[in-house]
Amino acid sequence: MTADTLQIEIQQTQNSRLKEVDFNNLVFGRNIADHMFITEYRDGQWNNPRIIPYGDLSLSPATAALHYGQAIFEGMKAYKSEEGDTLLFRAIDNWKRLNKSAERLCMPTVPEDIFMSGLTELLRLDSGWVPSQDGCSLYIRPYMFATDAYIGVKPSDTYTFIIFTSPVGTYYAKPPRVKVETHFIRAAEGGVGGTKCAGNYAGSLYPAKLAQQEGYDQLIWTDAREHAYIEESGTMNVMFVIDGKLVTPFVSDTTLDGITRKSIVAIAQHWDIPVEERRISVKEIIEALQEGRLESAFGAGTAVVVSPFATIAFEGVDYALPELKEDSFVNKVKNYLTEIRTGKTEDVFGWTLKV
Ligand code: COI
Repeated sequence: MTADTLQIEIQQTQNSRLKEVDFNNLVFGRNIADHMFITEYRDGQWNNPRIIPYGDLSLSPATAALHYGQAIFEGMKAYKSEEGDTLLFRAIDNWKRLNKSAERLCMPTVPEDIFMSGLTELLRLDSGWVPSQDGCSLYIRPYMFATDAYIGVKPSDTYTFIIFTSPVGTYYAKPPRVKVETHFIRAAEGGVGGTKCAGNYAGSLYPAKLAQQEGYDQLIWTDAREHAYIEESGTMNVMFVIDGKLVTPFVSDTTLDGITRKSIVAIAQHWDIPVEERRISVKEIIEALQEGRLESAFGAGTAVVVSPFATIAFEGVDYALPELKEDSFVNKVKNYLTEIRTGKTEDVFGWTLKV
């Protein structure tokens, strides 16, 4: 069997695990769908694109990615419409961002037809894994890593690109309690904070663990120079509604160009809500909160979608955020995004793609 556009070999599993999944109790990241797309880069080109049963890889212990971190990934989602179609959300933006990360990490880019044909064929084959339950979706994980078995430090000559998927429910069971980090940093100017490279997440684990030991769910990172300005949170961009305006840190080489983030900015503009993308100091947020001008603070990301914070901790004080009204921007934008993604409302932005 081959796919219609690019030639993709498809080897279907004889042992689907679909019936083992409890779609009414999906835990983020626990279940992986039956198949994966895989292609290897060698001699300056991507070879043998194919879909095979999801399974283990065989790697040399000297695999470069395991030592020097030449590894990047994306996170994206597909939804089930009421008509039973699979709808992909802004996949082209993820493809572009993957390639931006690839360039910064000295890795080859993935051509659009390989990314999109591999992805859509995989989703067609595993369409039964796309959940239709409220708040659920199919999380898609494209990633690339260096595979040279070589111990010297240099860009690898060979790479593997894989896409696998996972049916998921909500990321945070309840609104997260976040802590403003003023000692450790996630990224510095000129570094790799603007890319989705594996090392960014590895470096965040220890500070996040310390915060969790203090009872917090997640960190808000601040700038590397002064620890005064808000950057982003562990798995998401950060946004605020202050004085009726949507305010969010601008995207730079220290923050990720989040696709949920830019979707929310576009929706706010579409609704004629003023948007400010700029530097935001922690002090400004605390002051707005104390003066009753802050309606909400929330994280935005593929995994979390839109996740209002319960509290923000800064300099040892836990600040509770105001209770969200039914018609608050956060609730409205979350519902609207879900309606677009599931095809319940007209997609005036052209973001969804029927697979
Ligand atoms: C995403 O939102 O897709 C992310 O990358 C978060 C992930 C690390 C769980």
